[in-house]
Order: sequence, then structure tokens, then C-alpha cells
Amino acid sequence: MIIGCPKEIKPQEFRVGMTPNAAREAVAHGHEVLIETQAGTGAGFEDSDYVEAGATIAATAADVFERAEMIVKVKEPQAVERAMLREGQVLFTYLHLAPDPEQTRDLLASGATCIAYETVTDDRGGLPLLAPMSEVAGRLAPQVGAWTLQKANGGRGVLMGGVPGLGPARVVVIGGGVVGTHAARIAAGMGADVTVLDRSLPRLRYLDDVFSGQFRTSYASAGNTIELACAADMIIGAVLIPGAEAPKLISRAQLSDLKPGAALVDVAIDQGGCFETSRATTHQDPIYDVDGIMHYCVANMPGAVARTSTIALGNATMPFMLALADKGWKQACQDDPHLLNGLNVHDGKLTYYAVGKALGLDVVSPSLIVKG
Ligand SMILES: NC(=O)c1ccc[n+]([C@@H]2O[C@H](COP(=O)([O-])OP(=O)(O)OC[C@H]3O[C@@H](n4cnc5c(N)ncnc54)[C@H](O)[C@@H]3O)[C@@H](O)[C@H]2O)c1
Repeated sequence: MIIGCPKEIKPQEFRVGMTPNAAREAVAHGHEVLIETQAGTGAGFEDSDYVEAGATIAATAADVFERAEMIVKVKEPQAVERAMLREGQVLFTYLHLAPDPEQTRDLLASGATCIAYETVTDDRGGLPLLAPMSEVAGRLAPQVGAWTLQKANGGRGVLMGGVPGLGPARVVVIGGGVVGTHAARIAAGMGADVTVLDRSLPRLRYLDDVFSGQFRTSYASAGNTIELACAADMIIGAVLIPGAEAPKLISRAQLSDLKPGAALVDVAIDQGGCFETSRATTHQDPIYDVDGIMHYCVANMPGAVARTSTIALGNATMPFMLALADKGWKQACQDDPHLLNGLNVHDGKLTYYAVGKALGLDVVSPSLIVKG
């Protein structure tokens, strides 16, 4: 199969869909890999790294889209990229179609087979191609929060680990899923006093079993949440209710009860944010002040560490990418129901129920498509 990887063109996106290592494995499996020139530069990979791995460099995205049988990317295809997709071509990338009727319409019109990273599943009920980015964002959250807490950035001027004779910063993590667990581990590792709140008792039991001694857990009743938040130097928002907008857990009126200069890091901003005063920011201008409380609300946090994120994503996507290339998409999806869950669009038909429901469109069962 000819596998193509264009350079990402969405603003502020420095990741790339294939690492040189992924290219090397695909070539070893007998495939041809076509990479757009400088596609990996933002993640620290040069064209020469891909050439060494056995890939071919293409001068333009148009060359990649024209020749490749499967396109591997990071972000959803932009309008100019969608216009280059064609019938029979496979697209393997993040899509997030439910809030995006325009993209859905274009992908349906293209006739391509589109497999979304974010809906591929695993045996444990997880989302294996979304998890690496949650791990990155979670581990980054205390790091950016610590920076936000510095005086020059408008924060309280509190050091995460404290110093001998003076206690550490208090960090509250709301939501103890993938983001929250990784955030809590790093904050605890920086020496902070950390409490994780969640509404799931099984999750709290797991965290307590595995991490007792590193951080505390607390049930996320509204009362507990605000009480702990009021005593905190940093609050990390990491909740998720799948398919729904994030619940607002701290209101604007409650900001005046928080410590002046406290840092709110709202990782859940990509689902609307879990603080009433959150609004999405960018890496160029990541923080802002509301009533003396510093907010960090970058919607694509993993982009800040594009190299780590690219490699982490590549590690997760590689086995699926190889299966799609080795067997062809239909056989690969027949053999793996988790990969089949990634199928969102095929040959003008929508194949993912949640997207159909969100956009009011008809859906054809993906299992009928692979049987056909
Ligand atoms: N900003 C970014 O760059 C970025 C990157 C990755 C993930 N995210 C977002 O981070 C959020 C968390 O992702 P995740 O992978 O950790 O999800 P997850 O499903 O693993 O964890 C979410 C946790 O929130 C808990 N929860 C739900 N409602 C709650 C409430 N009211 N109070 C306390 N806990 C509650 C759930 O029980 C669950 O344990 C998502 O919105 C995700 O999209 C953002």
C-alpha cells in the first residue's frame, strides 16, 4: 500500500501523523511511505530522518493526496485537504465529526473511508488513541500551572514543593481519569500536596489503592469540591462526561472565595471547560486573569510538546496503521471490532451513531458495511 503523510496545516499544529520509526516499520512490512517535505519539522524530525527510514519525500500535499491509498494525519482534514480526498482512499486521523457538520458533509461527498482515532476502542472500555494525548495534557498541567503561579505571570508566587520550613503548594485535581491521574502524579512528584476529586467511587478506590501515600482522594460532591478549591493554590480541571459539555464546577461568584492569585488550569476546556469563567486560549497567549484568579485554558495542550506528543501518538496508532496497510481497511476492521468502532464514514455513508444523532443524519451500521 502507498501510505501518505501530509504536513499538518491547522494553525499551531506542530505534530505529524507518522514518525520516522512508524515509516520504517511500514516500509519493513512492504509498503511505500510518502511524506510531505518538512512534515516532521515541528516535531523535530527532518526529511533526512524519513529518507533514512526508507520513506520518499513528496514536494507538496497535493502529491501525497494524489498518490497515497491511505492518508495518515493528526488533525481533522482542513477544507483544502478534504477537497483532495477521493473515493476508495482511506483516511486515518482525529476527526471529531459530531460538532462539525461541514467536515462531515465534505467527507461524505469525498467517497473516502474515514477512520477516526478518537472512536477506536480497546478491551478495557478505553479509547487507546485518545489516551496518549490525555496523558500528555495531564502531565503538562502541573508544569504550566506552576509557571502560572509565578508572580511575574500574575500568580500567587507559590513554589510547588515549598522549601524546608515551609509547606508545599496545595493542588486540587477535579476528575481522576487519565488526565487527572497523570496530573496528580506529576504534581505530587513536584512536591505539592495533592488531592484528587472524582464522582466515581470505583475510580477513587483504584486511585487510593495504587497511589496512596502520593496523593489523597475525595468524593467530588459540590461541597467538597468548593471547600478544597478554596484552600488550593492550583486547581486542575480534568472532568469528562462522555459526549456532553463539561459541567461547570466553580462559578464566577465563587472566584472571590479562592486564594488570590490561585491558578486554574482547565484541561477540560476542549469540552467547554469546567469553570464558568473558562474560555479557550492559545499557546501564544495562554493565561488571563478574572477577579485576580489566573486561568490557563489552552485547548490543544499536547501541541506545546509536539515531539513527545507525536511519538506518543505514533506508538499508539502504529499497530492499527500497520493492520490497515497490511490487510486493507475492510479485512482489518472485520478482524478487529475495536478498529471497526473507528469507522465513521465510508463511501458516502455515515457509520457512527453518535455523529448521526448529533447532526441529524442517517447512519448505516459499520458491521453491515464490512460484511458487504
Ligand atoms: N486541553 C487539552 O489539550 C486536552 C488534552 C487531552 C484531553 N483533554 C480533556 O480533558 C478532559 C479529561 O479527559 P480524560 O481523558 O482524563 O477523561 P476520563 O474519562 O479518563 O476522566 C474523566 C473523569 O472525570 C470524572 N468526572 C466526571 N464528572 C465529574 C465531576 N462532576 N466531578 C468530578 N469528577 C468527575 C469521571 O468520573 C472520570 O474519572 C476531557 O475533556 C478531555 O477532552 C484536553
